[in-house]
Parts: sequence; structure tokens; C-alpha cells
Amino acid sequence: MDETKLRGVAAQLARPSGDEAETIAAAMNEANAAITARTIENLAPQAGETVAEIGPGNGALSIPIIKALGDSGRYLGIELSEEMAQAAATRLQAAGSTKIDIHNGDCRSAPVDAASLDALMAVNLLYFIDDLPELFGQVANWLKPDGRALFGIRSPESLNAMPFTQFGFRVRSQEEVETALREAGLTNITSSYHDEGTTMLGELEIPVDSIVIDARSR
Ligand SMILES: C[S@@+](CC[C@H](N)C(=O)[O-])C[C@H]1O[C@@H](n2cnc3c(N)ncnc32)[C@H](O)[C@@H]1O
Repeated sequence: MDETKLRGVAAQLARPSGDEAETIAAAMNEANAAITARTIENLAPQAGETVAEIGPGNGALSIPIIKALGDSGRYLGIELSEEMAQAAATRLQAAGSTKIDIHNGDCRSAPVDAASLDALMAVNLLYFIDDLPELFGQVANWLKPDGRALFGIRSPESLNAMPFTQFGFRVRSQEEVETALREAGLTNITSSYHDEGTTMLGELEIPVDSIVIDARSR
């Protein structure tokens, strides 16, 4: 793939838009099903809770959260892409009777009340965030005391093997993310690593893995 195409793929992953948005979302849903399922397992959403997700894409992988939150729960999706926000709203409203709010905009300016969330998760989002301390400071403020924050990322080894990540992705180690969480005042930080085997990207064999980072608010 030439550089123009790689830049296009990177831009679509950062913010799916236009005619390609649903195609890229379908590809993400297939590629990211395992890392998202692992993150939701650690999130452990409970009936009646208020849970936020940053960057849910078209929402297809978030349906288990809605099922767990049930009638009395609330799900807040924060999604930069207009196409993804609309698709997630439609899909997740149809998935159950949980109260669904989708904010179409940047997570750094999302209107979330302080101490309003039981839990928050984001999968494959941190690559698009320059200032982790700023985001994690906001997350710490949004969570209730002892609230849960879960982040699913891939390792630098996996990301650096994907040729499009050289165009705008912030590739960080588990330790860098953990340090930023700690500095933002989050606590009880634990991480789990999962080897997901390999996948073919054209002729390239890419190692695939999942790192789920778990933190608590004070
Ligand atoms: C690589 S996709 C991951 C989607 C899904 N979580 C997954 O793992 O398949 C990143 C998603 O985060 C959204 N996103 C990127 N930057 C964002 C920001 N600053 N605020 C909110 N959403 C953002 C993008 O629009 C996109 O839908």
C-alpha cells in the first residue's frame, strides 16, 4: 500500500467519515472483537450502573454493556465521528431499554458531570490522544469514588508492525499509560496481557495482542 493510502487508513481509524465510514467500522468490529470483549469483561458492568465509553465506533461491540446495564442503567457514548455516533445511537437504542446518550464530539470537551460515572472504558482510543494526563485527569473527575476505568490497547510491538500507525498514531507502552494514570490520581492500577496470535495484512504477518489496563478513582 502506498503512503497516501496508508495515511487514509490512519485517518479513517482516528475518525471514520464519509462513504468509507461503515466499511472501516465493519473491519474494526472484526479486528477488535476480542480486545473489546476482554475490556468489557474487566469493566464488569452491573445492572443500574452509569457507564461511559469513549470511541465506541458504530456500537456493535458495545451491545454486551447494554445487556448488562439493563432497564435502570445508563450508557453514555462519547464519539468524535458523526457517522459513528449516529450508527452507535441507532444500534444501542435497539439493543435494550437502557438509557442511551451519545455525545458526538471530542472526549476532551464532553459534558460529563463530576462524580457521575460508575465506570468508563475506551478501546483503541489512546493512540489518538496527545495529552494523556489531561484526559486521565478528566476521567478521574467524572468517576464516582472507587469508580472503574478500563483501557484496551495494543502493544508497541503489534502497533509498530502495522504500517499505517506511523501516520499520526501515538504508540505507547503499557508502562507509559500506567504512569499517566497514576500521575492523574488514579489508583489500584493493574494490567493484563493477552497474546491474540497473528493476522495477515496483505503480505505482512502482524502480531496481535490485547492489553487491558484497569484503574480505580479515589
Ligand atoms: C480505532 S477506532 C476504535 C473503535 C472501537 N473502540 C474498536 O476498538 O473497534 C477509534 C474510535 O475513537 C473515536 N475517537 C478518536 N478520537 C476521539 C476523541 N478525541 N473523542 C472521542 N472519540 C474519539 C474515533 O472516531 C473512532 O470511532
